[in-house]
Amino acid sequence: MKITVVGAGAVGATVADNIARKELCQELVLLDIKEGFAEGKAMDMMQTAAILGFDTKITGSTNDYAKTAGSEVVVITSGIPRKPGMTREELIGTNASIVKGVTENILKHSPNAIIVVISNPMDTMTYLALKSSGLPKNRIIGMGGILDSSRFKFYLSSALNCSPADLQANVIGGHGDTTMIPLTRLATYQGAPVSQFLDAASLNKVAADTMVGGATLTKLIGTSAWYAPGASGCALVESIVRDEKKVFTCCVSLEGEYGQKDICLGVPVVIGKNGWESIIDYKLNAEEQEAFNKSAEAVRSMNSVLSTLTL
Ligand code: 2OP
Repeated sequence: MKITVVGAGAVGATVADNIARKELCQELVLLDIKEGFAEGKAMDMMQTAAILGFDTKITGSTNDYAKTAGSEVVVITSGIPRKPGMTREELIGTNASIVKGVTENILKHSPNAIIVVISNPMDTMTYLALKSSGLPKNRIIGMGGILDSSRFKFYLSSALNCSPADLQANVIGGHGDTTMIPLTRLATYQGAPVSQFLDAASLNKVAADTMVGGATLTKLIGTSAWYAPGASGCALVESIVRDEKKVFTCCVSLEGEYGQKDICLGVPVVIGKNGWESIIDYKLNAEEQEAFNKSAEAVRSMNSVLSTLTL
């Protein structure tokens, strides 16, 4: 098994680090455009192998895609991260041409790869990767919902004073501060609805904190987060390579599901060796469906910017 992570910045390096620690592959290639950067990060990680006891061989590459040849899974993290006060959407001008170029280069050497997109604005970058590559829809997966759902569980667990692992809670819709939808109605603590334990005001606060979870961190750190995005990206890769069939909210191409088509948006999907394998229907109520439609509208208007860019 060979996996490539494109972009050796904080998110890419953390995805790679998690993959190596879990020994999800024999060969892991980290690629970056900055001279020597991926090689240096790969070397640093390899120097933890003796301590951590993993056998994954990590190599770095400065923009040489030949070294990524034959990868079965490729994670794209390239592009600029947001700075405090920026939305993910403001990154489109810079990141769209980067993501398109990376996708093309990857497919020249790994035509059968499953592609995981993390670069922002993630929903639009996933749509771009799908449209520009012409790959079967199941092989393009945007990573945002796993991360947002994990943040949702973090805020819920703080409010409930419980373990995040005892919660089932999902965020669907876009991966944007105003487009994501924390599904409080369906969130449960060991099978019991969380509304049994938290009043409406507390639940609304949890949802609001979740939606700006990434922005809050960006303000504190001065750049975009990496530990939770890195762990989320790795969880997705793990379910693919181990064919776990785990259900995660991922950004995938919709063809009528959840009332939407010609768009990539976050919905719960089964993740296995074929990429995303099926969509779970949560049977949204009217209010949730309306929020989902609004989220789709916002993402669709961002997607329409793509045609105004020279890519
Ligand atoms: C985040 O929300 C990187 O978009 C990612 O932190």
